[in-house]
Parts: sequence; C-alpha cells; structure tokens
Amino acid sequence: MINTIDKRAVVLISGGGSNLQALIDAVKSKELKLIISAVISNVDSAKGLNKAQKADIPTSCIKHNEFSERINYDRALLKEIEKYKPDYIVLAGFMRILTPYFINQYQGLIINIHPSLLPKFPGLNTHQKAIDNKEKWHGCTVHIVTEDLDGGPPIIQAKIPIKKDDDSFTLSSRVLKREHKIYKKALQLLISGELEYKNKDIWLNQKKLTGPIEMLF
Ligand code: GAR
Repeated sequence: MINTIDKRAVVLISGGGSNLQALIDAVKSKELKLIISAVISNVDSAKGLNKAQKADIPTSCIKHNEFSERINYDRALLKEIEKYKPDYIVLAGFMRILTPYFINQYQGLIINIHPSLLPKFPGLNTHQKAIDNKEKWHGCTVHIVTEDLDGGPPIIQAKIPIKKDDDSFTLSSRVLKREHKIYKKALQLLISGELEYKNKDIWLNQKKLTGPIEMLF
C-alpha cells in the first residue's frame, strides 16, 4: 500500500542512469522516503530506462530531436510529467537546458546534480576543465534549478582531490561515486522538511545556509 505522506518524483535522464540507480536503491533501503513515479528520457537508447524498468518504474521517452522549438519540447515533457503529479522533478544526468517556462511551472521543485564544485565549471566537460585549470579539488553539487544555468542555490557538495595522474575518465568515475551518495542525502533532507528553499535561499533546520553543506567521506 502506498504511504500517502510519501513524496513523489519524476526522474529525468539522458544516459546511463547510475544516479537513478543509486536513488532506486536508496528508496528500496528506505534511506530515501520517495516514490519514483516515473522515469522519462529524451533519448530512447538511454540505459537508465532499463534500470527503471527492472525496478518496475513506468518509463517513457520524449525525443527532443522530434521538436524544432525548445519550448514545444518542454510543453510535451511537462504534459507527460503532469500525468504523475509529482512533488519534485529530479534531474539525474538529464542533458537538456530547460526553458524558463518549464522551470516556472515547478519553481523550487526541480533538483539537479552537476559534476563540479559549482559555481566552478557549469555546463559540459567539467572534469577536463578542472584538470586543464590545474584545480587541486573537484567534485559535485546538488542544487535547486533556476533559470540561471547550473547557477541555482547549491544544497550539498562533495569534494575530492585531483591526483597528478588523473584524466577525465578516472576523475569522473571518482566524482560519480560521490554523486551517488550526496543526491539521496540532499533529496531526503528536502523531503523531510529539514532543508527548505525559500526566498531564494536554502535553510537547514530554520537556519539560512551561506553555502552548500559539505559532505566528507
Ligand atoms: C552525472 O555525472 C551527472 O552529474 C551529469 O551527467 C552524469 C550522468 O550520469 N549531469 C550533468 O552533467 C548535468 N549537467 P548517470 O547517467 O550515470 O547518472
């Protein structure tokens, strides 16, 4: 029987879905008190779709390349999402820029994970950029999605040192492991109400955060 107080989320993906799998596992182990109502991809070959199907989660695919205008894609995506009446939209490797129209429909309720220590390295190729920039540290950030690309208020970050012999592959695989830990944590803090997004700020237990929570491993 579904617990009516459990929050519901639609997860959007574009690829392998390892973050999705970490969330599915956290739901199963009850670390994360969330119902993943559906998984939607913009790419039909996304391996994450199989992961969702294995967990008996409804899936669908709305291919972005069938729409010439970004706004029309977003309207179709919203229509599909609305079928599930989610409390949150969770972006887990969803490689599309959402229009302000889309974001405004779910203000403060769209969460993203990004593979860098934001505000450093928004956009793509973050691991290579961190190496090229000779950074000592790299990591990942869970943040609220706003119209500012990868610029919404950060919730949690995990930081790792960059090793001398790291390339973008070794670095991304170490960062990904941290992503799997911080995403479920950030979502559970939000769902439980311990963490709130109000007046454009993040509040933890009624105290305004001045920066993201840093998770150490
Ligand atoms: C993850 O590293 C995620 O942070 C990144 O895509 C990867 C998806 O992996 N997302 C972005 O770059 C969004 N701008 P996954 O499909 O195995 O979860």
